Amino acid sequence: MKSVVSTLLTVLPLALAHAGPSGGHHNGGWNGGGGWYSGGWNGGGSTGASSNGEGSNNGGSSNGGSNGGNQGSGGNSQSCTSLTTDEIRASGNNSLFTRWRPYSHVNAPAGWLNDPCAPMYDPTRDEYHIFYQWHPQHINWGNISWGHATSKDMISWTDHGGWQDHQALALGPSGNGSYNGLGIFSGTGQPVNIHGQKDGTLLLFYTSVSWLPIGWSIPYHPGSETQSLAYSTDGGNTWQEYAGNPVISATTETAPMYWNITGFRDPFFEPSPHLDALLGQSEPHYYAVFGSGIKGVGPRIPLWSAPASDLTDWTFLGALWEPQANTSFGPLLSTGTYAFNFEVSGFFSLTDSKGDVHFYANMGTEGGNVSFHESNHWALWNEGVVTRGSNGSAQFHPVAGGAGDWGNGYAITSFNDTKNNRRIQWVWAPEDLVGDGGLFSAKQQGFQGSLTIPRELFVHEADGLLNPNGTLENGNSVVTQHSDGTYSASTLGVMPARDVADGLRLGAKYTKISKTTYTSNQILQKQSAASYEVRAVVSAATGPVGLVIGASPDGVEYTNVIYEPSNNTILVERLHSSTIVEFANVTVTGFFAPYILAETGKAEAITMDVFVDGSLVEVFVNERFALSTRIYPSKLCSTGFGVYVGAGSSATFSNFEAWVGLANVWPERPANSSSPLVWDTAAATNNYTWWSGN
Ligand SMILES: *[C@@H]1O[C@H](CO)[C@@H](O)[C@H](O)[C@H]1NC(C)=O
Ligand SMILES: *[C@@H]1O[C@H](CO)[C@@H](O)[C@H](O)[C@H]1NC(C)=O
Ligand SMILES: *[C@@H]1O[C@H](CO)[C@@H](O)[C@H](O)[C@H]1NC(C)=O
Ligand SMILES: *[C@@H]1O[C@H](CO)[C@@H](O)[C@H](O)[C@H]1NC(C)=O
Ligand SMILES: *[C@@H]1O[C@H](CO)[C@@H](O)[C@H](O)[C@H]1NC(C)=O
Ligand SMILES: *[C@@H]1O[C@H](CO)[C@@H](O)[C@H](O)[C@H]1NC(C)=O
Ligand SMILES: *[C@@H]1O[C@H](CO)[C@@H](O)[C@H](O)[C@H]1NC(C)=O
Ligand SMILES: *[C@@H]1O[C@H](CO)[C@@H](O)[C@H](O)[C@H]1NC(C)=O
Ligand SMILES: *[C@@H]1O[C@H](CO)[C@@H](O)[C@H](O)[C@H]1NC(C)=O
Ligand SMILES: *[C@@H]1O[C@H](CO)[C@@H](O)[C@H](O)[C@H]1NC(C)=O
Ligand SMILES: *[C@@H]1O[C@H](CO)[C@@H](O)[C@H](O)[C@H]1NC(C)=O
Ligand SMILES: *[C@@H]1O[C@H](CO)[C@@H](O)[C@H](O)[C@H]1NC(C)=O
Repeated sequence: MKSVVSTLLTVLPLALAHAGPSGGHHNGGWNGGGGWYSGGWNGGGSTGASSNGEGSNNGGSSNGGSNGGNQGSGGNSQSCTSLTTDEIRASGNNSLFTRWRPYSHVNAPAGWLNDPCAPMYDPTRDEYHIFYQWHPQHINWGNISWGHATSKDMISWTDHGGWQDHQALALGPSGNGSYNGLGIFSGTGQPVNIHGQKDGTLLLFYTSVSWLPIGWSIPYHPGSETQSLAYSTDGGNTWQEYAGNPVISATTETAPMYWNITGFRDPFFEPSPHLDALLGQSEPHYYAVFGSGIKGVGPRIPLWSAPASDLTDWTFLGALWEPQANTSFGPLLSTGTYAFNFEVSGFFSLTDSKGDVHFYANMGTEGGNVSFHESNHWALWNEGVVTRGSNGSAQFHPVAGGAGDWGNGYAITSFNDTKNNRRIQWVWAPEDLVGDGGLFSAKQQGFQGSLTIPRELFVHEADGLLNPNGTLENGNSVVTQHSDGTYSASTLGVMPARDVADGLRLGAKYTKISKTTYTSNQILQKQSAASYEVRAVVSAATGPVGLVIGASPDGVEYTNVIYEPSNNTILVERLHSSTIVEFANVTVTGFFAPYILAETGKAEAITMDVFVDGSLVEVFVNERFALSTRIYPSKLCSTGFGVYVGAGSSATFSNFEAWVGLANVWPERPANSSSPLVWDTAAATNNYTWWSGN
């Protein structure tokens, strides 16, 4: 403890000295400030936070402007002293709150966060909402509630109600004995009242939990999970439970599903004129899907509908499709496994450039352990052809599939951003703490989990492709062969929402390196800031190629993000990401097969776009690949980056760009928004059987 504190104190005075007099932080006034300051609040300043809660609050809030980051590029105030395992274990609660914390992402002000819930746009107030599964003042899952944040632009966010303690709480469990007494599980929202009218009401549909524990591999207690509504008529300031809750109580072996369920949760509901037409509904309906499964049989997505005029009146239609347990749509490497239970399912359509409608389902699959995928959870999507079944339900016939996030990103949800007529997806980005039963450094951080950058989904269409050696036969795309021998492929496109990414870059220090051919790895910037984006367009690679991030000036710590041509994978190699061995160091594997272009006979160029924000790393490739993961370097100065070129190969980087010091998206939070941690008693947790209590 002592050595940590003294190390940290050496940078504290610098940060505070500059933070103090500025005052006018809302104008992003740190731009171009002295190079030595770079690293400021999220590096040096925020570290100060660890040794002194009050000091850090001051330092943090005076840097909270739209671009409070502006860490600049020199970075020489970032300490190059390594934190050690022992120092971390000896540090107090919240002492490392700011050390690896993302500031350019949506996350809880403090405490445990998991699934994103109910993203929506309220047209009557021109406001975006996001909610998240939250356990305030705890570092582990439990008493699961909904936290709430709002935004005008999905770039800059406000904790709805305030950042301290429980202030951002929207919905919380009402205590054992009630239908929602032990948990407010995930769900979605619509800016309508229960009669489907847009009168300014916000409606939430969530899973009310009355019995714990719940898990796909343990016996299911009938009635544990029911489905309930809550609404707000004041823009989300206050919430009322619908008096007729729960609105769906179907569960094990009870009508109308008659399934021996592995689970039944996370309502995702939307209107769908396409499904109305397909199913011959005479009036507009909303459709809801859930995560579910049948024990010993396979995972399921139950489809329910309700007339738009009465969103309390739900009817079961059927399972969208009936995959067998522990199977996959295509090759395991490229399409992942359906495993044993689905959670957080979604079902939506997108229209392509020709006006054709594509239906997609997404699902969090549980229990699919494979050697190359770190987690037993997968975040998958499938595209399917939808037909009307003989019993009047919609039948989904999968035609392509892949991972919505190839790393440990999970619990995907999405919404129709009606302001911009696009589909935006949110993903939970968990931590990756391995030591101490997965809680190493958790109480010192005082929080766990973040959401990813909001991602735009679209139908990704490619024409003029070749298919040598069956390159296109990996299940990721719907492939069409033309009479001239070329192919078209369509798949689910994904990229950071453009306006949000632009907002994050505002005020960052921009660097561009023109076309260069490299024959070996090169660090292009030795030190940058706690948050940065590196983007490169690479062609003519003769071997593995990619980017290096998180590099320390002495070369001891670094992370490689590589396209590996021998097996069409994107690898995030973390073996040297940190000298602290209690953090995960396994390689993260995603599948990515470049298209072969008929015009040149060669593979398309690879555009790799990597965002680093504290520990959170997000990788995007060619607008159809997303992966999130974590790195926790031991040194604040492990922020260098460059190009990766495999031994003996060469590659042309036709464009290399970097943005150093991404925006702080929480202008109203201090950098240290930690709350005192609470450990629950045996009585409050039913002797730690409901949740672990920490
Ligand atoms: C669970 O959360 C609710 C809502 O915030 C709160 O009233 C209750 O005290 C919490 N229960 C425990 C055991 O922490
Ligand atoms: C929880 O509530 C149920 C139903 O009221 C009751 O049977 C049970 O004993 C309670 N459990 C605890 C630990 O309070
Ligand atoms: C439900 O599944 C469990 C676990 O496989 C099994 O023990 C039980 O007998 C099943 N119930 C019915 C009614 O099939
Ligand atoms: C309709 O048929 C599908 C496919 O066999 C089935 O999954 C679903 O449960 C059926 N719907 C009802 C209401 O029985
Ligand atoms: C699931 O399938 C994999 C092969 O893909 C197999 O190795 C594994 O044992 C199976 N798991 C179970 C529980 O059946
Ligand atoms: C699958 O992985 C989880 C943790 O990721 C582990 O708890 C479980 O034992 C594994 N199951 C099998 C069958 O390997
Ligand atoms: C969003 O919803 C509107 C109807 O309110 C619909 O016209 C539009 O196609 C939807 N957009 C997307 C991207 O789903
Ligand atoms: C396709 O296979 C042939 C023969 O096995 C090989 O020479 C060629 O390099 C392969 N092409 C691609 C694009 O993999
Ligand atoms: C892909 O190839 C690389 C390089 O040979 C290897 O390290 C990695 O384990 C492979 N991944 C899979 C899933 O086969
Ligand atoms: C990787 O992590 C494991 C524990 O998960 C640890 O035993 C090993 O030493 C680590 N390797 C390196 C190079 O850090
Ligand atoms: C951390 O917080 C918990 C819960 O309040 C408390 O029991 C524990 O003593 C704290 N640890 C330290 C080192 O202060
Ligand atoms: C609480 O659980 C522990 C084991 O986890 C057990 O030894 C103890 O008897 C339990 N206490 C009560 C009151 O049930």
